[in-house]
Amino acid sequence: MTEKSKRGIARGLTNYGDPAFSLYLRRSFAKSMGYSSEMLARPVVGIADSKSGFNNCHRHFPELIEAVKRGVLAAGGLPIEFPTVSLGEVFLSPTSMMFRNLMSMDVEEMIRAQPMDAVVLIGGCDKTVPAQLMGAASADVPAVQLLAGPMMPTSFHGERLGACTDCRRFWALHRAGKVDSQEIETIEGNLATTAGTCAVMGTASTMASIAEALGMALPGSAAIPAVHADRLRAAEASGALAAKLAHSPIRPSQVITAKSVDNAIRVLLAIGGSTNAIIHLTAIAGRAGVSIDLKKLNELSDSTPVLVDLKPTGQYYMSDLYAAGGVGAVLRELKPLLHLDCMTVAGMTLGERLEKEPTWVDRAVVKTMGEPLSKQGGLVALFGSLAPNGAILKRSAADPKLFEKEGRAVVFTSLDDLAARIDDPGLDVTADDFMVLQNAGPKSGYAMPEAGYLPIPAKLARAGVKDMVRISDARMSGTAYGTIVLHVSPESAAGGPLALVRNGDRIRISVNKRSLELAVPESELKARKAAWKPPVGMPSRGYAKLYMEHVLQAEGGCDFDFLRKA
Ligand code: FES
Repeated sequence: MTEKSKRGIARGLTNYGDPAFSLYLRRSFAKSMGYSSEMLARPVVGIADSKSGFNNCHRHFPELIEAVKRGVLAAGGLPIEFPTVSLGEVFLSPTSMMFRNLMSMDVEEMIRAQPMDAVVLIGGCDKTVPAQLMGAASADVPAVQLLAGPMMPTSFHGERLGACTDCRRFWALHRAGKVDSQEIETIEGNLATTAGTCAVMGTASTMASIAEALGMALPGSAAIPAVHADRLRAAEASGALAAKLAHSPIRPSQVITAKSVDNAIRVLLAIGGSTNAIIHLTAIAGRAGVSIDLKKLNELSDSTPVLVDLKPTGQYYMSDLYAAGGVGAVLRELKPLLHLDCMTVAGMTLGERLEKEPTWVDRAVVKTMGEPLSKQGGLVALFGSLAPNGAILKRSAADPKLFEKEGRAVVFTSLDDLAARIDDPGLDVTADDFMVLQNAGPKSGYAMPEAGYLPIPAKLARAGVKDMVRISDARMSGTAYGTIVLHVSPESAAGGPLALVRNGDRIRISVNKRSLELAVPESELKARKAAWKPPVGMPSRGYAKLYMEHVLQAEGGCDFDFLRKA
């Protein structure tokens, strides 16, 4: 059998020891689904479908898949959809993060194991796009990322509401006694009202923007609302593009490179994107053999302005970004800082793409480099005795009054301890203290949940306290805000310095110096380390065991050690 004949349905035959028999059997079974010989002779475009009854953000995927199929068929390909793991952010326990790597393995292996010449990856909710890009980068079959698109905000009692920054804002008001139980129930029904991903610049919107900046999604497609007709046209165009890519040498390994990853970091910073995205981008880049150094993140952050005025740090929603010119408007503004020779799945370089685009932009939403929202990027990495391998602060979502400060540690040893004591009226805590959460990192047994946004203790919230320094090895939702230091590495459960903090210790943060220091004598820390014991009750079987044994720290993207490209 020639290489050419191994394309399409003849790729990767099931092994019965007789390739001709394998092909005959496969064609016969494919024909049982009604395909003609002519259709089976076409290049195959797989459609990785991540819809699920447990994923509200993906509820419009059947319509998107029909549009993708239209595009594939019109361009001469045969579209074949296949299901993968789906990760609905709020329906998974202990956290969707634990299953991102599982989904990435599913995507990689099903692309590789099934006969397809190219693939359209359809995802949107927080972990699904990272998982699909990680899997596609490892499989290295031509791939196009099609995004779910953001939800529309809802008009409600004279204001616009959108998941999920407004979810947190109203919950904080409810905790402070300013919104009663009946009101919060009414609001609950009006926060997320259409298909699509969270309506603000949370993790899903950040990852969609990154997919476009990397060159893995169609130009102009990241911000199109889920329910806009343009989203269906983007789906059709993605299908047609994938059918063309089936004959092309452009693979993820040509698109996800050190230069395109730099571009993606610039975009992440300019859009004031989610802290989670740095973990996901590190994992995606790692699958392509590219490392992200947090010190490099700081260099890029210092020279990349924040340009986009979206919640949770600004005022607009993703649908406004689309109307304002989309991610293309951000890329055009950043042009002097970008590597323009990066190839995209559209078959042109980033520079060629930007030359072609219309130049209209709504400056209320996308600012100029000359008059940015902030001269420096939204994310910064901190290092020091409390975080030798780094920690992340979203300075654009934090209170600058807390950036240069020393405080007394108020320690919670686990999520259960936090839940049990945070609202205890007897808790010894003031607004000037630093709240520290231990054992919420990747290997903690909780799989690094979005628990870094520690609630302000109820007695302080009622007194009007809106922000405090909060430090943990957990993550934070991209829709959250506050002076929250996350991803502390090494984590507590691995015996990092965070595990050694005790109530009353002094901690110093300096965003200027990029430092996070635990002001405890070395000898005392040594004694505490000698007495330290790892958390007990770790999973003893199945995927959870695999996860705990192989997950990397935050600076490794929380990927599995055996999945990164050597
Ligand atoms: Fe799916 Fe927010 S819950 S993107």
